[in-house]
Amino acid sequence: MNTGKNQPVRLRDFSPERELFLRDIVSGLRKSPKKLPSKYFYDHRGSQLYEEICGLDEYYIPRTEAAIMQRHVGEMVARLGKSVTLIEYGCGSCTKTRFLLDRLPDLAAYVPIDISRKQLLRVVDELGRDYPALEILPVCADYTGDFALPAPRRRSERIAVYYPGSTIGNFEPAPAREFLRHIAGVCRPGGALLIGVDLKKDESVLHAAYNDRGGVTAAFNLNLLERINGELEADFDTGQFEHRAVYNKAEGRIEMHLVSRKEQVVRLDNVSVPFARGESIWTESSYKYDLEGFAALAQAAGFSVDRVWTDERRWFSVQYLTCTG
Ligand code: AVJ
Repeated sequence: MNTGKNQPVRLRDFSPERELFLRDIVSGLRKSPKKLPSKYFYDHRGSQLYEEICGLDEYYIPRTEAAIMQRHVGEMVARLGKSVTLIEYGCGSCTKTRFLLDRLPDLAAYVPIDISRKQLLRVVDELGRDYPALEILPVCADYTGDFALPAPRRRSERIAVYYPGSTIGNFEPAPAREFLRHIAGVCRPGGALLIGVDLKKDESVLHAAYNDRGGVTAAFNLNLLERINGELEADFDTGQFEHRAVYNKAEGRIEMHLVSRKEQVVRLDNVSVPFARGESIWTESSYKYDLEGFAALAQAAGFSVDRVWTDERRWFSVQYLTCTG
């Protein structure tokens, strides 16, 4: 397009997606304390950084969970059974799903859901090549909202949901229960949920996992501000915010924050957001459970715990829940 002045074109973007993002960010920054939804970490860059986190020595979750999957996948697929539609919430790179797909040749269909479109399309492309007989029905959506599930061509006897990575830990307890209840509505009685749940453990392990020496988690956290700058024309000076992750033992959760290094005012879409020095934006909670606590949560949401697999150190668990309705 020729603007006549050799200036870059500035699009006034009122697309519903941007408006929703803007509304969430503005309302989060007006809260006291300031708080932003962690689902917004996962733009293209954020998803890349998360993949990088998953390769860190300190970040024990993916390794530990993959080892549990590898070791016990036989028992898992025996429970899942034949002619299942497998739905994955927030599939990301689908690494752990492959353990299941390798052993489930009778799957009715696989429905990967992810908020990051680019990554989803790439991963589905790879899966299509590796599992040519499998019907893959990808859905790009924020899975905390409502969306229509695609219908598989083959007859499906049951629905099973796979929700690995302990992403359930990013919900506060009441929304976690609501979300599990929503999943129960998707799998219906007779269906099942295979879920990764991170466990309570020594604080030093948790601290190291969320404060890695290479600063990747810090970059992941700060990328949220870069994203807001890029998509909402805000003027966050990311050098003036600092990553902080602390374990809140009483609440059983890691809290991630971005702490203002000085008194400053940030502009975003005609809104001024003042920061005191040391004031923080709470960007994520990551709850750690014990087995009893999680079983109670599951039960309150319409599930019953059928089987729990853990690693030897009991750092992480993969749990098979059946839907009681
Ligand atoms: C998305 C739940 C797997 O809470 O551990 C990683 C995201 N945040 N490092 C977590 C995350 C900081 C992560 N999960």
